[in-house]
Amino acid sequence: MVPAGTHAETRSASTPASRTLLFLRRWVANPLEMGSIVPSSPALGRRVAAAAKRIAAGAPVVELGAGTGAITRALLEGGIAPARLTVVEIVPEMADVLAAAYQGVNVVCGDAWSLRTLLGPEATGRVGAVVCGIPLVLLPRPRQAALIEAIEDAAPGRGFLHYSYCITSPLPRAAHGLEGRRLAWTPLNLPPASVWHYRPRAAG
Ligand SMILES: C[S@@+](CC[C@H](N)C(=O)[O-])C[C@H]1O[C@@H](n2cnc3c(N)ncnc32)[C@H](O)[C@@H]1O
Repeated sequence: MVPAGTHAETRSASTPASRTLLFLRRWVANPLEMGSIVPSSPALGRRVAAAAKRIAAGAPVVELGAGTGAITRALLEGGIAPARLTVVEIVPEMADVLAAAYQGVNVVCGDAWSLRTLLGPEATGRVGAVVCGIPLVLLPRPRQAALIEAIEDAAPGRGFLHYSYCITSPLPRAAHGLEGRRLAWTPLNLPPASVWHYRPRAAG
């Protein structure tokens, strides 16, 4: 867990306005890594949380790219207990905000591509649902494939949830050996967003 309050930003990012400002500032610094200029809406969060709860069926849930916690909050409000939830965020200032706001949640500051190392041997392979908020559509295909592999290692056969602003699938399903379907769409997000569930394609 990241020690809370190690960055000055933690204190100033305790309101919705300041969290949005932090988001915007990070987008200016690294637009490809952020993928969005503002945090996800509660409407999108509710749709992601409902799907994650159903897919996880009581097992641990991992969120990748938790940002300032818009989806984290929805997962908790949707009934996933803090002790079941691990959130991964690469930006230390944001991980600090998460650790300060969500007591009891396992907040990990690190690179999602190193998921096995971040989760450790006990949790690897036992995850029930992975929620990916990292903007995969912007990445080259080999980089997408590496994260899909890391997720499969953590949550074998479960696939992952991914929210996106794309009109069509943000991932080339066939190229990655995935089945994917859109579970939900909401216009109440800036911009409107879809929730996708990708799973390894059944053999045969
Ligand atoms: C589109 S934002 C989503 C933030 C938040 N989940 C939300 O919905 O408001 C993408 C987030 O992924 C994080 N991210 C990008 N690359 C990452 C990586 N390699 N490992 C962990 N987090 C990453 C970014 O820092 C950013 O917070």
